[in-house]
Amino acid sequence: MHKVKIVLSTAAIPFVFILCLFLNAYGDNSGKLYVVGMGPAGPDLTATRALSIVRKADVILCSPGMPKKFKMFGTYIDPGKVAFNPWEGIIGEKASRLKKTDYDAWAAGAEKQRKKVQEFVRSKIEKGKTVVMMDGGDPCVYGPSIHYLLKGFDESLFEVVAGLGAFNAAGAALKQSFTSNDVRFVLLTSPQSMFGKNGEKGDDILKDLSKYETTMIWYMSLRSIDKVVAQLQKYYPPDLPIAIVYYAGYPDKEKVLKSRLASIVNDVKKLDEQWLGLFVAGKCAE
Ligand SMILES: C[S@@+](CC[C@H](N)C(=O)[O-])C[C@H]1O[C@@H](n2cnc3c(N)ncnc32)[C@H](O)[C@@H]1O
Repeated sequence: MHKVKIVLSTAAIPFVFILCLFLNAYGDNSGKLYVVGMGPAGPDLTATRALSIVRKADVILCSPGMPKKFKMFGTYIDPGKVAFNPWEGIIGEKASRLKKTDYDAWAAGAEKQRKKVQEFVRSKIEKGKTVVMMDGGDPCVYGPSIHYLLKGFDESLFEVVAGLGAFNAAGAALKQSFTSNDVRFVLLTSPQSMFGKNGEKGDDILKDLSKYETTMIWYMSLRSIDKVVAQLQKYYPPDLPIAIVYYAGYPDKEKVLKSRLASIVNDVKKLDEQWLGLFVAGKCAE
């Protein structure tokens, strides 16, 4: 009886060996991608859940600015874990310039990058690794990861961790409710969502919107402000209250500029900052 037992377990060795190789190569399903909302500023406005996932990451995908920003606020992101910038060639100054001058070249590069990122993440997950993709603010509000990089990616392979969005921090800076009694709805939009890449969606929607008391929040580079203001001026009065919340949530840099539709473009030009600001229109900006 004893002898038979030994023979059986010896026979099982190759099977166990192959199983180990398989698990090592294809993972034990414990690998996962986390798309983590890092909040609008530094780690004091990042959710505890997000920070603990970043701590347990094997591999991190983020913009070069993210570890720098968090270091400034005293939170260390291990540079040894950062694989590469997943948005290289998709967003950023250089990419935006190419997008304007040669859209097809930009689109081809962006598609190549998306494939590269998805293949990289899949290979890490298959090896049982925890991959963390860091998004600014909340990943579900104009976050480039879900919206762009993970298009078509198997949903069972990733989780999304909510983050505080720039609009939450902007509301706090304004010390106003976006949803006060007479406001019918809050609109989160961008010039491209509203008007299309080349204005092909038109601006009729603004005409309809202008009938209602709305809080409008525009996600955009402030370099596009002239175009948005010109469109708003067709349907809204010159005294429509507008606020720009610069660096919402940053303890040392946050700044609120309050103005009106007629004067906002000039007021913004007087300031140096051209990039990080949220454009808020409506009563809460008064
Ligand atoms: C690609 S979107 C990312 C939005 C992000 N997912 C969120 O939930 O806040 C980038 C735009 O968000 C706005 N933004 C992001 N962080 C901001 C901040 N701390 N202060 C002001 N605006 C911010 C700016 O309009 C910027 O052009």
